[in-house]
Amino acid sequence: MKLLVAIAILVSALAISSSFAYDPSPLQDICVAINNPKNAVFVNGRFCKDPKLVEANDFFFPGLNVPRNTTNKDGSNVTAVNVDQIPGLNTLGISLARVDYAPNGLNPPHTHPRATEILVVVEGELHVGFVTSNQLGNKLITKVLKAGDVFVFPIGLIHFQWNVGKTKAVAFAALSSQFPGVITISKSVFGSNPPINVNVLAKAFQVDANVIEKLQKPFA
Ligand SMILES: *[C@@H]1O[C@H](CO)[C@@H](O)[C@H](O)[C@H]1NC(C)=O
Ligand SMILES: *[C@@H]1O[C@H](CO)[C@@H](O)[C@H](O)[C@H]1NC(C)=O
Repeated sequence: MKLLVAIAILVSALAISSSFAYDPSPLQDICVAINNPKNAVFVNGRFCKDPKLVEANDFFFPGLNVPRNTTNKDGSNVTAVNVDQIPGLNTLGISLARVDYAPNGLNPPHTHPRATEILVVVEGELHVGFVTSNQLGNKLITKVLKAGDVFVFPIGLIHFQWNVGKTKAVAFAALSSQFPGVITISKSVFGSNPPINVNVLAKAFQVDANVIEKLQKPFA
């Protein structure tokens, strides 16, 4: 009897875990995304190209060795390589990014609603961190990374990277979605279009309305 109960629990746990999958599991070997569904043959995520017409370039993206321009207000530059850049990633549940950081450059606090991220530093020194959910006490998990160090940012959690070294820094990250999505906290909260009512934010942040107006200004 106990064994039967254990088996029943195991089977239902497996059923639940599979129904919580994020990106759709591929139902065919490949499903290269196309924009014009007129020539599509399947749908699983985006429309799929006819496999007979698939070519190497559908799975290819060049030039990720080239440093990006970090002369901007954050001092950082993210080059995303997801299903928009590589249509062959459609339904495969994975993508990539290169991040360049000027000295003192910041990839500001943000979250990926659909992906866990694993990041490797190839040059420089980054102070990185993520914050756990309310239920886990909003604990800050943080570390300083050097070249060769790897760090994980769990799905949905707010995280950041800040270049604390004297030189530029470079990192590459893999993400567990063909299209992870990005929500930058400052931009979403203070730079929405149209802006969130000042009184809502004043109450949420427990400050005067003029402080909120100041925070909204750079995005106006
Ligand atoms: C990132 O770098 C590329 C190429 O160097 C540049 O075209 C782009 O404008 C940069 N993006 C930002 C946000 O600075
Ligand atoms: C980098 O971007 C800045 C600001 O857009 C621009 O002034 C500068 O010429 C760019 N540098 C390179 C090497 O393209």
